[in-house]
Amino acid sequence: MAEPARLDGSRVLVTGGAGFIGANFVHHFLRRFPDAHVVVLDSLTYAGRRENLDGIPTRSLTFMHGDIRDPAAVALAMEGCDHVLNFAAESHVDRSIEAPGDFIQTDVYGVFVLCEEARRRGLRRFLQVSTDEVYGEVLEGHATEAWPLMPRSPYAASKAGGDRLAFAYWATYGLPVVVTRCTNNYGPRQYPEKLVPLFVTNAIEGQPLPVYGTGLNRRDWIHVEDHCSALVTLLTQPGIEGETFNVGAGNELDVLTITGTILKLLGKPGSLVRHVEDRPGHDRRYALDSSRLTRLTGWKPAVAFEDGIRQTVEWYRANEAWWRPIKEGEFRAYYERMYGTRKVLKEVRA
Ligand code: NAD
Ligand code: DAU
Repeated sequence: MAEPARLDGSRVLVTGGAGFIGANFVHHFLRRFPDAHVVVLDSLTYAGRRENLDGIPTRSLTFMHGDIRDPAAVALAMEGCDHVLNFAAESHVDRSIEAPGDFIQTDVYGVFVLCEEARRRGLRRFLQVSTDEVYGEVLEGHATEAWPLMPRSPYAASKAGGDRLAFAYWATYGLPVVVTRCTNNYGPRQYPEKLVPLFVTNAIEGQPLPVYGTGLNRRDWIHVEDHCSALVTLLTQPGIEGETFNVGAGNELDVLTITGTILKLLGKPGSLVRHVEDRPGHDRRYALDSSRLTRLTGWKPAVAFEDGIRQTVEWYRANEAWWRPIKEGEFRAYYERMYGTRKVLKEVRA
C-alpha cells in the first residue's frame, strides 16, 4: 500500500467543501499547502454556500456543482486526485428527525458511490469524516474507538452506516480508508440552524434562544480549525489505513453554559432564554477519548474554548452580510416548522 505523500503539489477532492467544516478545511489546507490544488464537489443544498469559498485563488480551486450520489459527477471530480476527504452529508439532527430520507441517501448511499469510484483509482488516502454521535449517548466515561456503535438519531445512524461502509472498503478491497469521529465543531461559516450560530445570531437580533428541555445536555466543543488540523495530520500519517480516530477537545460543556457565555459576550439579557419542548431522543452527553490520536501523531487541540467562542461571536457580529440573507431565505420556513409550535416550558427572568 502506497504511503501518503507530502501534501505540497497534491490534488485533493473535498466533497461537501461549500459547507461549514468542508469550507473551513479548504481555507486551512490551502493556507498550509499553497501549491496544492483542491477540487470541491458540492451539490449546494441549503447548507452549502458557494460564498464560503470566497477568497480562495482560482488557480488553487476547481469547484464542481454536483452530487456524491451521482457516479458520473463523482468520476469526473476524482479524476487525477490523490486524496479524498468526504465531508458531504446531511448533518442536522433535527432535520433528520423531521425527514430522514435524504440522510440515508447522502450519508450512506453517497459514501457507497464515492467508495466505488475510489477503489478503481490509486488513491493515497480516502478520509471519511464521521462523527462522535455514532457511539450514541455516553452517560459515563469517554468513548474510545473500540466502543460499540449505538447511534440514536436517524442522522447518527446514517453516519454510522457511512462510517462502517468506508471501513468495509478497506477490509475488502484495500481502499486506503481512514475514519475520523469528531465532537461538536463551532467557528465561522456554520449554518445558523446549529446551536452556536443560531443562538449568536438570534441574540444579536434580540430574538429568543430556544433551549431544548433542561439545557443540561453536554457536548465536547472543538474549534473547527482544530478539527481541520487533525484531518491534515491524518492525511499525512503513514500506516494507518483501516483505522478510526476520535477527535475531541476536552471542552465538555452543557447547553446552558454555552448560552450564558454567548449572552455575556454580546451583552444581552438572560431573559432571551426560553426553555422549549425537548428534541425527541435527545442524547444527553457525548464524550470522547481521543488520546490515541495524540499518542500516535502528537496532535493536540490548540484553541482554548474562551478564545474560540469569543472569536466566533466576533465573526458573526462582523459578518452579518453572510448570515442575514440565509435567515431571510429557506431558513425562515424551517424555523417556523421547527420552533413555531414548540411548547415553551419556561421563560427565564433577567
Ligand atoms: P454542513 O451541513 O454545514 O455541510 C454539508 C455540505 O455537504 C454542504 O455544503 C452541502 O451542500 C453538501 N452536501 C450535502 N449533500 C450532498 C450531496 N448529496 N452531494 C454533494 N454535496 C452534498 O455540515 P458540516 O457541519 O460542515 O459537517 C461536515 C461533515 O462533518 C459531515 O459529514 C458531518 O457529519 C461531519 N461532522 C460534523 C460535525 C459538526 O459539529 N458540525 C462534527 C463531526 C462530524
Ligand atoms: O457531535 C457532533 C455532531 O454535532 C455533528 O455530527 C452534527 O453534524 C452536528 O449537528 C452536532 O450535533 P448536535 O445535535 O450535538 O448539535 P446541535 O447544534 O444541533 O445541538 C447542540 C446541543 O444544543 C444539543 O444538546 C441540542 C441543543 N440545542 C440545539 C438547538 C439547535 C438546543 O437546546 N436548542 C436548539 O435550538
